[in-house]
Amino acid sequence: MAAYDYETHEYDVVVVGAGGSGLRATLGMAEQGLRTACITKVFPTRSHTVAAQGGIAASLGNMGPDHWQWHMYDTVKGSDWLGDTDAMEYLAREAPKAVYELEHYGVPFSRTEEGKIYQRPFGGHTTEFGEGPPVQRTCAAADRTGHAILHTLYGQSLKNNAEFYIEYFATDLIMSEDGSCQGVVAWNLEDGSIHVFNAKMTVLATGGYGRAYFSATSAHTCTGDGGGMVARQGLPLQDMEFVQFHPTGIYGAGCLITEGARGEGGYLTNSEGERFMERYAPTYKDLASRDVVSRCMTMEIRDGRGVGAEGDHIHLHLNHLPPETLAERLPGISESARIFAGVDVTKEPIPVLPTVHYNMGGIPTNYWGEVLNPTEGDPDRIAPGLMAVGEAGCASVHGANRLGSNSLIDLVVFGRAAAIKAGEVVDAEAPNPTLNKASVDKALDRFDNLRHAKGETSTAELRLEMQKTMQQDAAVFRTDKTLAEGVEKMYAVAGKIDDVSVTDRSMIWNSDLMETLELTNLLPNALATVVSAEARKESRGAHAHEDYPDRDDENWRQHSLAWMNGKVDLTYRPVHLNPLMGHNEGGIDLKKIAPKARVY
Ligand code: FUM
Repeated sequence: MAAYDYETHEYDVVVVGAGGSGLRATLGMAEQGLRTACITKVFPTRSHTVAAQGGIAASLGNMGPDHWQWHMYDTVKGSDWLGDTDAMEYLAREAPKAVYELEHYGVPFSRTEEGKIYQRPFGGHTTEFGEGPPVQRTCAAADRTGHAILHTLYGQSLKNNAEFYIEYFATDLIMSEDGSCQGVVAWNLEDGSIHVFNAKMTVLATGGYGRAYFSATSAHTCTGDGGGMVARQGLPLQDMEFVQFHPTGIYGAGCLITEGARGEGGYLTNSEGERFMERYAPTYKDLASRDVVSRCMTMEIRDGRGVGAEGDHIHLHLNHLPPETLAERLPGISESARIFAGVDVTKEPIPVLPTVHYNMGGIPTNYWGEVLNPTEGDPDRIAPGLMAVGEAGCASVHGANRLGSNSLIDLVVFGRAAAIKAGEVVDAEAPNPTLNKASVDKALDRFDNLRHAKGETSTAELRLEMQKTMQQDAAVFRTDKTLAEGVEKMYAVAGKIDDVSVTDRSMIWNSDLMETLELTNLLPNALATVVSAEARKESRGAHAHEDYPDRDDENWRQHSLAWMNGKVDLTYRPVHLNPLMGHNEGGIDLKKIAPKARVY
């Protein structure tokens, strides 16, 4: 058994991750007087939310008529009817409240002439239950909205006495014998010490796993740490086959060019200079849902109408927009285009390509953020003591495809919901649980084994092999053949972790070990993705299966659950079809959100 001294800390709540959802949960817990710790592997304001550009969706109606039910309808349609109705209703209804709270906390939103929060159009956001024109629903702080939110929430959390453990890497969950979560084991990267956090509630806010792919808009820190921790405890991951490609990653570099660029009037062209989205989505054109736009771009390239020397990308034009608009509304992406593509956006188009951006799947939860451990008889069974929020979780509010700007609102609505629920279920007066020492020892053994791993394969080589496999075989378009190959290759890649080599044995800022720990989190996420995708014989949202081009509601309107048991075992759970509020009480008319063909 590995011998490590550790310091034990007791809290009511431990939040792992300090992005938008982690900070919103931390703030909400601390505001209620719960003793709250937030553990984060990067400085809070460097979390990946800082890169969120275009904005946060809420039906404020500042720029024209809007309604939460129209927002809900768009979210349901965007999800391709895989989202849970209760979660989608909660998101759309609570969104305005959550945004006004942010405003009052101090988020410096851009303003209209009248001083209201400025809102811009985003893909898939419409009026009149999809019958009216696009709506300006996305509240923006120029094109640095995530940055503004993150700084505000961090400041507010400090003001409310939340305690931060910065540059601490949470390695594993601590679980009781009967399956309750009791906290986490963490490694302080700066001084090498080990810490055990004993908590009545643990909240995973660890973000997505974009780095399982070769080209992603996600930060290098997006390594699916929460999903990895959960999978190691025998809990499932949900809907992992749904991986979103953002239409406009900068060609080559992969950095994000916000959908807000098209919201402000930008458009895409092919090698013939044609605005091809007019052909595919005659009503909403470049503002169709982003899975649709990504597929159309890919089809143009495959049909020989890509731009550039190799005909392998597409042009995004902003050069027709007034330079003042670009400077005021899109300063960040103007700079990114200059640095990463050498393009002056006032004069030339930006070379762009669909790039991995977001994971719709994750740790299954209800809309309060409580993690689920489903059984056949009880698909909504709760795993006590454990919550997951933000991109790490799967509420499931985005179903098979997320609408742009529904991510930032998901972070704050469900971070806030987790805090409300914790306020009800965590007893601040009760003693902390007696820790299951065997679970702590198991975590330390795993850490020590990796620290002393003496195999033949470097972490970087293995990671690259995984990233290339996922990029090639679990791509925008999938077939039975590519997916079957992907499954075979990913099992082989995952198996090589037993042959990994870590050359640095030190405890202080050992990035070799840290990246290996991250890889052990990425691998189960990647494997669950490709296996779940191979099994789903239909096309829905971001899962575009060329051998099964249609959506099949009869057989496949259900959530996939991937259980890691050496291999991946799949089971399924039903989609929640019931709203929270009846139509007579002011809720949505279910006929409005009944499944139909998804056209833009
Ligand atoms: O395009 C963007 O600004 C991204 C927003 C989002 O993913 O929600």
